Amino acid sequence: MSAEPLEIHLDDRDVAESLRRDVRVGLSAEAKWLPPKWFYDTRGSELFDEITRLPEYYPTRAERAVLAEHAAEIAESTGAKTLIELGSGSSEKTRLLLDAFTRRGGLGTFVPLDVSVSALRGSTAALAADYAGLRVRGIVGDFTRDLHRLPAGGRRLVIFLGGTIGNLLPAERAEFLTRMRAALEVGDWFLVGTDLVKDPSVIVPAYDDAAGVTAEFNRNVLRVLNRELGADFDPEAFDHVALWDPEREWIEMRLRAQRPMRVRVLDMAVDFAAGEQMRTEVSAKFRPEGIAAELAAAGLPAYRFWTDPDGLFGVTLARAD
Ligand SMILES: C[S@@+](CC[C@H](N)C(=O)[O-])C[C@H]1O[C@@H](n2cnc3c(N)ncnc32)[C@H](O)[C@@H]1O
Repeated sequence: MSAEPLEIHLDDRDVAESLRRDVRVGLSAEAKWLPPKWFYDTRGSELFDEITRLPEYYPTRAERAVLAEHAAEIAESTGAKTLIELGSGSSEKTRLLLDAFTRRGGLGTFVPLDVSVSALRGSTAALAADYAGLRVRGIVGDFTRDLHRLPAGGRRLVIFLGGTIGNLLPAERAEFLTRMRAALEVGDWFLVGTDLVKDPSVIVPAYDDAAGVTAEFNRNVLRVLNRELGADFDPEAFDHVALWDPEREWIEMRLRAQRPMRVRVLDMAVDFAAGEQMRTEVSAKFRPEGIAAELAAAGLPAYRFWTDPDGLFGVTLARAD
């Protein structure tokens, strides 16, 4: 079956408005910041896929190991008719679940949702070609905004992989989980992948690889601002920084100005001092008891929790009660 045309919940005008709003707020703040969703234009999505193949980037391999081990159990326990994936990207690991559902039977529709049109075009075409009989309905949308518009009907399993939930700040995460629960019916399922707290000597290199791919990914946000808003950032004049925050147990990606700069963006003149750092991503790391508590507080009690053999990454299957 060929993939259905993408369903657009986020059109060019929404994107432009929301980018302008985020840039205005983030770049006029005392400590400058930008939300991570703006990394993911075509180039950014490609760079992220490259990151997932880097030797230092353990989360993808560890999460894949969990899915490989437990996909059949997930298919059997949930008996889902519809599989929805938030922040789906290439949906590569999701194939393990699709394979298990294919063996079990009963899954009719796969719905990947992402802000990245290019990632969705690629993944929906490839999946529709490889899974004959599966309806593939890609949605261009924002998982912080569009959850109430997820397709209804049948037993649903919503998956949120890659540790992407850790890119939300704690208050945003609580709001996300509350909205997630509100979008589900009692008996629907939610599967979430979370990177776990561990020695920073393992975490930091995953965000600061020797080949410099993550640095390129980080600087890509400035290219997006230049192209979409006519800003005049010099991306090469910013260094990539990955910093572990032991109090909050998260890693921050930042861009550090190499010299004093005045950047024009929208109607703003934004000054950077030499060495000034702008936060571009937070990636929270979790403890098993913390994930369980956050899910339960939102009405999504954990049903199963698994890790890979090295205990690097956790995957929780929760059920809406
Ligand atoms: C860290 S990547 C993970 C990709 C894939 N799920 C994986 O596990 O490898 C985050 C993905 O979420 C998407 N994304 C980021 N913010 C988003 C948002 N607010 N709404 C929808 N998708 C978003 C990005 O385009 C990207 O594909």
